[in-house]
Amino acid sequence: MRRVERSLLFCILAAVCLLLSGCTGAGKKEEGSTEQAPQEQAGLVIGFSQLGSESAWRLGNTASMERAAKEHGISLVVDNGMQKQENQIAAIRSFIAYRVDVIVFAPIVEDGWTNVLQEAKDAGIPVIMMDRVINIKDSDLYTAYIGPDHYLEGVKAAKYLQKKAEELMADGREKIRIAELSGTEGSSPMISRYQGFHDLIDRDDRFEVLETVSGDFLRSKGRECMQNLLKKYPDQIDVLYSHNDAMTLGAIEVMEENGIRPGEDIVIISVDGEQAAIDLLKEGRINCVVECSPMLGDAVMDLAERIVSGKDYSRVSHPDEVCFTEYDDLSGLEPRGY
Ligand code: AHR
Repeated sequence: MRRVERSLLFCILAAVCLLLSGCTGAGKKEEGSTEQAPQEQAGLVIGFSQLGSESAWRLGNTASMERAAKEHGISLVVDNGMQKQENQIAAIRSFIAYRVDVIVFAPIVEDGWTNVLQEAKDAGIPVIMMDRVINIKDSDLYTAYIGPDHYLEGVKAAKYLQKKAEELMADGREKIRIAELSGTEGSSPMISRYQGFHDLIDRDDRFEVLETVSGDFLRSKGRECMQNLLKKYPDQIDVLYSHNDAMTLGAIEVMEENGIRPGEDIVIISVDGEQAAIDLLKEGRINCVVECSPMLGDAVMDLAERIVSGKDYSRVSHPDEVCFTEYDDLSGLEPRGY
């Protein structure tokens, strides 16, 4: 694409994205929402459909994409789907109409993408799935996936708990009772973090999962769910397994308001690794944080460049991630950046 056409395309796309956000947001901002301005660069044009801005993780992920695009000289057009699949589908259609070089999207849920991905394939535009995966019969409808292994995150959470159980059972109790705060219904991290955890915990008769409730990955809903759980299971919850830090932070507020000491009276296991959660882990108010890294921008830009220039690339790639627990020395840990 010639430079003048590219600039024109960029301006049109930026305007379309502003329009899309304006129409689909209906003037209402979701929790933690920020305006996302596209940045003009020479080089590739990538249309990026971000699913929302529900957590510090998500904001860190968007920032990582914007920073990396700038460094790679890539024009990134960001559309915020505001937690709605129909907004993401509309954004992808606009990227197809304006013939961007690559489409990147973080799918809010697993199902319902076949038609729009077929349209992208018919238009010859490569599609990179980032952060979350989809459930689709024809896997040729996307080009590559780059993001965390959410199943493994659930397994890591369970393994930490199995270690902790030895300590908890020492007081002679019969069962360790778990309350689970899950993420957005139908999303791949919710499904896989549930599955990875349950595959180990359900066949270990030391444990009983009292209930799994969805807090939609939101701090406010984490609060709400925890209030309900404490009413329904007074003095019965030994462990909280929460699918993300935002919900964990909300749940911890509620525990403390009710005189419960998180990390001591209730063992807290969280996923993500944002700074606020790591700080609480260091203070003993969280026991385990399974890392899920949002810093995917560089790897996504590299991948897009390789795909467009016809070089070899991995169809599926995961960042290296660790698990931080109360048993580790965290004094040398670098600031998290999200
Ligand atoms: O898809 C990744 C998850 O989405 C993160 O764990 C969570 O914080 C975000 O909302």
